[in-house]
Amino acid sequence: MQGMKLISNIVACAALALSGQVFAQTAEADNSNKGDAAKGQQIATQVCAACHNADGNSLIPANPILAGQHAEYIIKQLNNYKSKDGKPPVRESPIMNAMVEPLSPEDMKNLGAYFAQQIPRPGVANDKSLAEQGEQLYRGGNLETSVPACTGCHSPNGAGLPPNYPRLAGQHSEYTAAQLRAFRTDQRTNDENDVMQMITSRMTEKELRAVAEFISGLR
Ligand code: HEC
Ligand code: HEC
Repeated sequence: MQGMKLISNIVACAALALSGQVFAQTAEADNSNKGDAAKGQQIATQVCAACHNADGNSLIPANPILAGQHAEYIIKQLNNYKSKDGKPPVRESPIMNAMVEPLSPEDMKNLGAYFAQQIPRPGVANDKSLAEQGEQLYRGGNLETSVPACTGCHSPNGAGLPPNYPRLAGQHSEYTAAQLRAFRTDQRTNDENDVMQMITSRMTEKELRAVAEFISGLR
């Protein structure tokens, strides 16, 4: 038995070591790991388009842009919005809690694959001087109050780092500011190890608005 376990470990390691190219080929034959973007598009067009736009480039500031967001992050959020075993959902939003109710795990994967493939429309920051202050915090953090730079996890161009760190670039400043406030007041608590709750607890309202403004124009 010990030998079998060792062999299966070696096989697993070898599979991990293989290049993404090989993974893409096997994923085509077996869709268990990768979602089907065409199926995701059907749900997106019929249901999600009303608020997020069919291609995920939401035009409404309160509704997040999903175009170009990492599939892993989208799937995690959809799961977090869903109530499980009668417990309240870990991420609360009356709208999204209702939206995910009919979605199966397969639907979530397909939606993740679809929105990740959409091209985000480049954003522009409206308030340049506020955005400049936000850029300082985004790139350098605040040494005095121990706010870390955002670049470390969300990358210098805001593209994020899958699977854990979401893309932020070009997001509506209103949505970003609302999420930062939700983390700060512990209304949003689905971040692993409370990382965003900790960071936002050290931020002022001014810093929060400035960094959200900068992110809206980040490319
Ligand atoms: C009636 C409007 C509405 C519809 C329809 C809707 N959404 Fe949303 N969606 C929202 C709002 C508002 C939020 C922000 C909620 C919050 O503050 O957590 C959101 C948030 C999200 C997020 C989190 C994004 C992030 O950056 O964390 C995802 C993912 C998402 N929606 C996917 C979907 C999908 C997939 C569908 C279709 C099945 C859908 N939404 C339908 C309004 C909507
Ligand atoms: C140590 C890593 C780390 C640092 C540094 C960090 N973040 Fe995050 N951030 C995360 C993680 C992880 C998540 C995803 C939480 C989840 O799974 O819902 C996140 C989520 C977010 C979200 C929610 C995105 C959405 O679409 O809803 C925003 C906004 C955000 N971060 C902004 C910032 C800003 C601004 C800074 C700098 C002041 C920053 N983050 C620094 C790890 C980090």
